[in-house]
Amino acid sequence: MAESIHEKLKSLRDQLHYHSYRYYVLDDPEISDAEYDRLFRELQALEAQHPELITPDSPTQRVGAKPAESFESYQHTLPMLSLDNALNEEEFLAFDARTKRSLETTSDIEYVCEPKLDGLAVELVYINGILMTGATRGDGFVGENVTQNIKTVKSIPLKLLSDKNVIPERLEVRGEVILGIKEFENLNRVREENGEPAFANPRNAAAGSLRQLDPKITASRPLDMFCYGLGQVTGLTFTTHWQFLQTCKALGLKVNPNIRKCTGIDQVLKYYRDITEVRDSLPYEIDGVVIKVNDFALQERLGVRSRSPRWAIAYKFPARQETTQILDIIAQVGRTGALTPVAVMKPVNIGGVEVSRATLHNQDEIDRKDVRVGDWVVVQRAGDVIPEVVQVIRSKRTGKEKKYKLPEKCPVCGSETVRPEGEAARRCVNFSCPAQLKERIFHFASKRAMDIDGLGSKLVDQLVEKGLVKNAADLYFLNKEQLACLERMAEKSADNLLEAIDASRHRSLDRLLFALGIRFVGEHVARVIVKAFGSLERIENATEEELTAVYEVGPQVAKSVVEFFSKQENREIIDRLRAGGVEIKEEVIEEAINLLDGKTIVFTGVLQTCTRREAQDLVEKLGGRASSSVSKKTDFVVIGENPGSKAEKARNLGVRVLTEDEFRQMVGL
Ligand code: IVH
Repeated sequence: MAESIHEKLKSLRDQLHYHSYRYYVLDDPEISDAEYDRLFRELQALEAQHPELITPDSPTQRVGAKPAESFESYQHTLPMLSLDNALNEEEFLAFDARTKRSLETTSDIEYVCEPKLDGLAVELVYINGILMTGATRGDGFVGENVTQNIKTVKSIPLKLLSDKNVIPERLEVRGEVILGIKEFENLNRVREENGEPAFANPRNAAAGSLRQLDPKITASRPLDMFCYGLGQVTGLTFTTHWQFLQTCKALGLKVNPNIRKCTGIDQVLKYYRDITEVRDSLPYEIDGVVIKVNDFALQERLGVRSRSPRWAIAYKFPARQETTQILDIIAQVGRTGALTPVAVMKPVNIGGVEVSRATLHNQDEIDRKDVRVGDWVVVQRAGDVIPEVVQVIRSKRTGKEKKYKLPEKCPVCGSETVRPEGEAARRCVNFSCPAQLKERIFHFASKRAMDIDGLGSKLVDQLVEKGLVKNAADLYFLNKEQLACLERMAEKSADNLLEAIDASRHRSLDRLLFALGIRFVGEHVARVIVKAFGSLERIENATEEELTAVYEVGPQVAKSVVEFFSKQENREIIDRLRAGGVEIKEEVIEEAINLLDGKTIVFTGVLQTCTRREAQDLVEKLGGRASSSVSKKTDFVVIGENPGSKAEKARNLGVRVLTEDEFRQMVGL
């Protein structure tokens, strides 16, 4: 007998849960992204035909919810405590001594050591293996119910892995939601381009993202989570913290790979040193290590203070903030011509690295922080992030400090600079400005674009300054003699560079599109556009309407793409790339699944999340037909507020009636 719909749905969901776990938790996928997409769409299509069978833990429900008015509060079953800090070795040793004294022992204590993640603490509640609630820590007793947002975090399982595991009736698991450093930088770049204020650090960005009323915004931020603690658990017992963490792993929850069991202080101190060493290579920020007594019975005996347990301590890294003086403020010109104000400071050592420049982001930030030349300021360096000025120390002002305004003329080419309305950045209007050109070439050659190994900023500077490269395509016409006359360019390095340039002639089309440096076209958007249009020629000739018809391409992107290709100089660059031997590939267009193929849908009443016109357009985009009158041939009637007689008629004719919410779920919104 053919597989029942229920079985099919279950099998698809199980496969998707498993593969998403492989990808997001283990970072070890077994299938390609395209294969995953296919399974996902198959499930979406099946659920569209049977909306009544959609379950809250279905992988399609990660972004199902509509914006909330506000968050409900959530009372934690057990308080979410904070941690006491040790700021140096001595304070950590005192903690160990205190612990031994309380336990009346002289033997070494077994601890579990973990990185102290810099994000925000949340609690997840799984009932019989299904994620029911996600809440922020709040004041430790009452947090905010952010379930819909939590569900958008891909590494958080909607359902615990059940094979070979006992699924507890109730599992309250705690951990830190974080945003990686790269992801944080990307987010800020886009925000700055859109004229939105940048987040100060990954922690603020993670917190801001999780506390969005619209889960779609949260979904667009690549948040991650590591689990490190428990609340109330029924139906499963543990004797040690280590055992708890291993169980979390087996259940499909993400646990930090850098945890270690350590017996006695020497092993803990070694752990602290080891983590200090790898700190900067971690893709997320940590601000210390957390040391926890492993045995739950001993934890119980040690007990808790009002806000923090006696069985754990956060051993923090030295601060990465220092004070220094601003000697000057200069304007740096980026790829899109945006002027970034940079503070030139008295060199200062911050956590082992000498820093003499820090970004001030944009004019609004300077004004908001009231930063002036001559000011003493707090400067912060976080991981690989560009150092930034955090605040001014006003008590050190002498009155001689000078206010700063970004220049009206480009400091590099002297052209006019403008600040378009609604944008945060002032820009140099000259497309051929050498500073912009250098940045564009550097971007073109960068790892994630055309990946021309060895073409660093110093070399780009020389190539541009010597007039050898006036646009990216010129790279493909360079010869050995030209390279040989550059500084620090031995014969071997010239050969290597030419080889690297040659290798880049065969990159995929989405990389090339990204490499062109079109405003608002990041890696992801480039991929989306290439998938939808398949060839550069079709992209070049696409209209704004055709572009915005693609899911995930907004009007701003569409406008920017059309503008880019409408310029003669850009078309010439593409011709020249071709002439230089750059292979401009084609990609097979993925056939869009027409979720509503052949279906007739009638909308009635006032819709809450979009206009009727938008809803009808969407139906047509998905292969369906929007009609205004109900008949026996109608497949669905979607009712908004005050629906009137059409809903009645549909019911009488036996036509399926959907609420707006059900309709949105059906089409995967
Ligand atoms: S355990 C009672 N473990 O640090 C135990 N917390 O300063 C309390 N944090 O609110 C939490 N990494 O947001 C624990 N491995 C880790 C942690 C961690 C980061 C955060 C957490 C907590 C804060 C306390």
